[in-house]
Amino acid sequence: MINDNKEAASADTPMIRMSNVKKSFGDKHVLRGVNLEVKKGESLVVIGGSGTGKSVLLKNILGILEPDEGTIEVDGHVTTHMRGRARVELMHKFGMLFQGGALFDSLPVWENVAFGLIHGEKMSKAQAREIAVEKINAVGLSARIVADLYPAELSGGMQKRVGLARAIATSPEVIFFDEPTTGLDPIMADVINDLIVESVKGLGATALSITHDMASARKIADKIAMIYEGEIIWCGDIKDLDNSGNAYVDQFIHGRADGPISKHSDFSKSAKNTA
Ligand SMILES: Nc1ncnc2c1ncn2[C@@H]1O[C@H](COP(=O)(O)OP(=O)(O)OP(=O)(O)O)[C@@H](O)[C@H]1O
Ligand SMILES: [Mg+2]
Repeated sequence: MINDNKEAASADTPMIRMSNVKKSFGDKHVLRGVNLEVKKGESLVVIGGSGTGKSVLLKNILGILEPDEGTIEVDGHVTTHMRGRARVELMHKFGMLFQGGALFDSLPVWENVAFGLIHGEKMSKAQAREIAVEKINAVGLSARIVADLYPAELSGGMQKRVGLARAIATSPEVIFFDEPTTGLDPIMADVINDLIVESVKGLGATALSITHDMASARKIADKIAMIYEGEIIWCGDIKDLDNSGNAYVDQFIHGRADGPISKHSDFSKSAKNTA
């Protein structure tokens, strides 16, 4: 069982809560006190420049990295230093689409999609294949054609779809998307965005995505959080993004070379506004 049930999970308990999470590598302070909440059923997108710690943030929630300080809660349970069986059980709640796909080259498409069902849920291969076929079709691929192909035989866009089918195969409560549209042409990127919205809503899942593709962020987000210099400097509804009143957010979403982000390497705390 998941330990630490001090706070009983209820409908109002955020699905994910990060409180003052810090993570450094040597003297490189990547996360400097991240505070972030994702409500149940909400789709939150974290935006921010390259190397600002978006993937590190996600890896801390997933337990691939452990925070130096602070607390991470999933559905009211503290998971910060969770290990062993409890961690494995926690992972059953999660689906993940990795930056770059991260498919297993040596496994055919259907077995990539069925991986969590076979190895996590101990489902029979025959039963897992049935679900995999269903999910492959759900992401707009023809299982009849691709199920027995290997990842190397697919285009980048098809691999992303297979990654998405794998992320949703176990009907997870929370799905993480790390740069789901990177490396895709704008039309394929939009197809993936639509599929993400459809699958997340279809499952009633909570979604936490990270991207620097603003078109993608606008399409999949209910809420946006911007990370800068190791902190969340703005968080608000997608409808408020264009009127955030935050110069850092404005510069980022319009992709301007000029602005506070390039001018000050020394970050001013006055930019903070957690709406
Ligand atoms: N395991 C690690 N060991 C040392 N440094 C790391 C490690 N993982 C990440 N970093 C450093 O932390 C910083 C943030 O990395 P991260 O991958 O989170 O960036 P990102 O915001 O996801 O960037 P991108 O948009 O390019 O994917 C980088 O400077 C990176 O070099
Ligand atoms: Mg990254």
